[in-house]
Amino acid sequence: MPVHTSSTFAPAAVLCGVAGWVPPRVVTNDELAARLDTDDTWIRTRTGIRRRHIAGPGQATSDLAVEAGQLALRNAGFDAVGTDPVDAVIVTTTTPDRPCPATAPAVAARLGLRQAAAFDVGAVCTGFVYGLATAAGLIASGVAARVLLIGADTYSSIVDPLDRANAIIFGDGAGAVVLRAGDSDEPGAVGHFDLGSDGTHEDLIMVAAGGSRRRSEGGQLARAERHFAMRGNEVYRHAVTRMAASARATLSGAGRKIDDVDHFVPHQANLRILHSVADDLGLPRERCVANVDAVGNTGAASIPLALADAAARRVIRPGDRLLLTAFGGGLTWGSCLLTWPELPPPTRPYDPIVPYDTGVDAPS
Ligand code: COA
Repeated sequence: MPVHTSSTFAPAAVLCGVAGWVPPRVVTNDELAARLDTDDTWIRTRTGIRRRHIAGPGQATSDLAVEAGQLALRNAGFDAVGTDPVDAVIVTTTTPDRPCPATAPAVAARLGLRQAAAFDVGAVCTGFVYGLATAAGLIASGVAARVLLIGADTYSSIVDPLDRANAIIFGDGAGAVVLRAGDSDEPGAVGHFDLGSDGTHEDLIMVAAGGSRRRSEGGQLARAERHFAMRGNEVYRHAVTRMAASARATLSGAGRKIDDVDHFVPHQANLRILHSVADDLGLPRERCVANVDAVGNTGAASIPLALADAAARRVIRPGDRLLLTAFGGGLTWGSCLLTWPELPPPTRPYDPIVPYDTGVDAPS
């Protein structure tokens, strides 16, 4: 069911800091092709992905989240050490450090935030947009005046490294934003959400075991049950239709047209999906922010990582109107509008690919 926050909702959540962080280890398509039955051309033409960053041994989701969170607080002008610049920390992830407790309290503690509320939000690759709506609700209700929202995922911890269909798609990373209470008409205000889900398709994207439904008693689980599974073809079709519909619902709820959007910032699932959604919306592809070539699909991190990279490259500038749209397991989807605020440009989260050309095939 669509959920709309009206533009008169006050106080509004206003973005005032952004950052992205990826682990240093780069895995190229050729490196994957050396151990899997695949090749660079197949991966590039089907997905647009050229490389991804993968966490090192012992590197957990909270480690990535702390890096991105610290940089975002710094970008917002807050020094986390010894102070409590935010009232709440939300970590959105599909790959928490462990099933219990949530990852956010440990992240908050390591950032020196001793008093902040801290909890996780799970909506798979839609997590960041759901997290934004949650943060906006905390701010609108007066529960928090400032919120640190971190999308962080370590898909390498759940994807079978021998599964060529999924190992090529996913990467590890984190992205974060700081939100403060402000006015709905000021730059940075996050507004007009569309959120939705369809749990009848929960089997399209799933880790089957390890939770309460299929318990890991005695360590007897089959390899496939322990790992991430996805029915790629069906997911592809749902992703295109649901993302386009969500983007349209958000624009119409806000009384906007696609021509009002300077940059479409979609969840970085697959470049063909992003281009198909842009085409469906009648949006020129060059207005679609894409960094999936450099980082792969980083789950809940993908939109803030794309924002941080585009802001660092000055592709997104103050005053630009953005439409954020995500889609993920659940199924879940969501969109919202945001006018980019004046911010110090964040540090580039990773080295660029030169030349900046994905070489992806036109969508079929
Ligand atoms: N390298 C080479 N061949 C591969 C391969 C790989 N890494 N992965 C699969 N293949 C093979 C398949 O086995 C199949 O072979 P077959 O025809 O002999 O059976 C063939 O390629 C086509 O497979 P198919 O699954 O139909 O490919 P596709 O064109 O749908 O592309 C995906 C596969 C996963 C790239 C595509 O479905 C996709 O992007 N889906 C959405 C995934 C996504 O974005 N998920 C995140 C949503 S949040």
